[in-house]
Order: sequence, then C-alpha cells, then structure tokens
Amino acid sequence: MPISFLVDPLRESDPRARARGDRWIDRWLAACADLAELKRSNPMTDAVIEEIDGRMIRIGDRWLVDFASCNYLGFDLDTEIIEAVPEYLRRWGTHPSWSRLLGSPVLYEEIEERLTALLGCEDSLILPTITHIHMSVIPVLAAGGTIFPDSRAHKTIYDGCQVAEARGATVKRFRFEDPDDLERQLRDDVAATRIVCMDGVNSITGNAPDLPAFARVAREHGALLYVDDAHGFGVIGERGATETSPYGLRGNSIIRHFGESYEGIVLVAGFSKAYSSLAAFIACPTELKELLKTAAPPYLYSGPSPVASLATVLAGFDVNDARGDQLRFALWRKTDAVLRRLAELDVYTPNHSGYPIVEVPLRHHEDIGEVGRFLFDRGVYVTLAAYPLVPKHEVGFRVQVTAANTDAEIERLTRVIAELAAAGRLRLRSEVERAREAA
Ligand SMILES: Cc1ncc(COP(=O)(O)O)c(C=O)c1O
Repeated sequence: MPISFLVDPLRESDPRARARGDRWIDRWLAACADLAELKRSNPMTDAVIEEIDGRMIRIGDRWLVDFASCNYLGFDLDTEIIEAVPEYLRRWGTHPSWSRLLGSPVLYEEIEERLTALLGCEDSLILPTITHIHMSVIPVLAAGGTIFPDSRAHKTIYDGCQVAEARGATVKRFRFEDPDDLERQLRDDVAATRIVCMDGVNSITGNAPDLPAFARVAREHGALLYVDDAHGFGVIGERGATETSPYGLRGNSIIRHFGESYEGIVLVAGFSKAYSSLAAFIACPTELKELLKTAAPPYLYSGPSPVASLATVLAGFDVNDARGDQLRFALWRKTDAVLRRLAELDVYTPNHSGYPIVEVPLRHHEDIGEVGRFLFDRGVYVTLAAYPLVPKHEVGFRVQVTAANTDAEIERLTRVIAELAAAGRLRLRSEVERAREAA
C-alpha cells in the first residue's frame, strides 16, 4: 500500500481525503511497518552506539566514521567546553527542576543576554527545544488567522501548524523556495493575522532560501515571517572583510548572513546542533517575549534544560568568540572537499550552498537497504533518507560534515562514494541537468 502521508503532513486537513474515509491511523501503522522493515534490513536504522572516539563510533564490534552528527562545530568534543561543566554542576546541581516561570536560574539570563548581543536582535527567550517552540508559539502568533508554511518546512513546523489549526487557524502551503507562489497566496488571503513559516538552512537540501525575497513579500503583505534556522545557527553568519569562509562570521544565523533586519521576522533556532546542547531560542521583540512567557505553555509547563546544557551553551559562546571562525573555516574546507569530489565524480547532490549537509540521492530507491549495508560495511555512518520519510525520487543518504571530522575520515567517505558511483548506484549530475533542460 503506497504511503504518502509522511511526505505530505497536512493531508489530514484535505477534505477529499476525509471524504474518501482514509484513516490516519491505518496509514500511520502501514508506514511504521515499512520503517520496521528498514530497521530489520539496515544496521544504520535505530542503531545502538556503544562508544565514541572523536567522530568514530562503535556499534557492536565495528568502528565507523560518524557523518550523521549535527555537532557542526565539534563543541561536543571540545576540551575547553567539557572542562567548563563540572564547576557549573558544583554550583547548580545537575538539574534546575523548576519550570522557568517558577524559578529561572540566572544562567538563562546570561544566555539570553549573550545570545541577543550575538544575533543583534531586540531580545530572545530560551525554551528547551525547537519542537516546544513550534508547538506553542506558532498557534499564538497565528491567532486564528492564516499560516503559510513552506511545503517542505520541517515536520515540527507542521506539528505546530496542526495545533494552530485546532485553535481555529487555516493552513495554506506555498511551493518550496517559491516567493512568487507565496505572494499570490498572500494577495488572495484576507485573514487579519498572517504568518509565513519556513526553514532557514534546509535540513535535507543543505541550502538556504532566498531570505531577502521572502522577507520583502511578507513585509509588503503585512505578514510575519517565522524562520527555523536550526541548521544555520552557529554555522553561517554576518558577512565581513575578515571572514574565513563563505559561511561568514560569528555564526549568528541566517538573518544576519543575508544582512536583513529583524523587522517583521521572528527567528527560531536551537543549541542542539552547532552548540551541542539541549536548549533552543526564539529571537523576538521584548513585548512578544513577555507575552510568550504566559501564552506559550512550555515556559510554565515544561521542565528546563539540564545544567550541563546551560553550561555548554555559555562555554560555547566563549569558544565561539575565541575560535568560532577558525572552526567554521575547518568545517567549510572539509565540506568543500566532499562537494568537489562529488562534482569530479559527476555525482548529483541538491547542495549548491556549500553548507555542511550533503544529500546524495540514489538512482533506484529500492537500493536503499543494500547501499546502507555497503556504507556500513565500509565503516561510514550516515543518515538514511528512505521512503516513506522522503519521496521516492529523493531516497538516498545524507552526510553531515563537522569540524571534528579528520581529513582521513573525509577521504574515507569520498572513496566509498566513488565506489557507489562506479557501481551505478547514484544519480549523476549530468543526467539531472539534462532532465531539467528537457523539462
Ligand atoms: C529544521 C529543524 N527544526 C527543528 C528540529 C527539532 O529540534 P529540537 O530537537 O530542538 O526540537 C530539527 C531537528 O532535527 C530540525 O532539523
């Protein structure tokens, strides 16, 4: 039975689907069965990692290079950051336990102050995860009006949209990376409150949207632009003469990278990727921050981040100030080596940004199990993007490069990709370009 709802998360709201009587739970269970099959056939699904050594991981008796980590700056392994933690634990214990409204350790104030200065925004609010933020903040901002999510926005944005729908909002998707489609839809919509939701650096393609174009359209139509830059924060930042790579300086995220102002834009991102810590934030005006303290449930109802995570955020800011641009240079150089090798091999990837998320689609989606096993046997650990999590033509594997990967590890990755290309398993760039020209 074809399962398409995972790639079409709002289908539940499609009246034709409802009329046909499609049951969400049946589709869900069928999809879970497909994933169970993948787990049976593939050692990189739901694997238990027993030990790490730098970016090497041990699964059973096998050591593999980890290209599935989103710890882009290598802060998880940084000695200065690790050594900063015990002092915080001595002073604060392991866990604050209060929800923030009930008792907020001053560490939060310190993080928000430093974060606000780094981003150059008016204010910021820390909550435990981005998922908490989307689920609680999107419904408040939508205020029963219309939400326009990018059709390929992250699943957690769609989860937030569904909560908002239950509170009376209407959801209208616009085409991926298409500001003209958004503009058409905004022009036709008469809701008093409109909010546009999209990813910054996309977690699958590794590319950034044309943010200035979206910001212009949203502002012209009086809509709020809500951007989730989970993968850009810490990696890309403001441009400047002293930048060490095209990623820019300071890792202060997509709004600064494009030289945009925060006017009419709310930025959401987290520390769980580049900063290797469990915490997330919303950058917004102080007035909205104060409203969210009571209107967004997690500030009162959810438990806080562990002290170790608050400590690694603060130590991470110090390392970012002192060595961040060096680390971003290393990250860019290693990612560039992967992308250049793919180009030499004529292997297609949607990544045209040079950012460290490199998706490699397969020629035949049915090969995913075998390709996964081949990568595993060659000691390369990646994220598998299998159907039904992605559409069939996008089935493949995703590589995330981090500054902590060694050059030898990058070399191993590209050698194994070359073997897959020689075996005809990967889509070729020249073929994709020819197909595009013909279309
Ligand atoms: C784009 C994007 N948004 C949100 C999330 C969820 O973040 P969190 O774990 O902080 O809820 C992820 C996690 O992978 C993500 O990639």
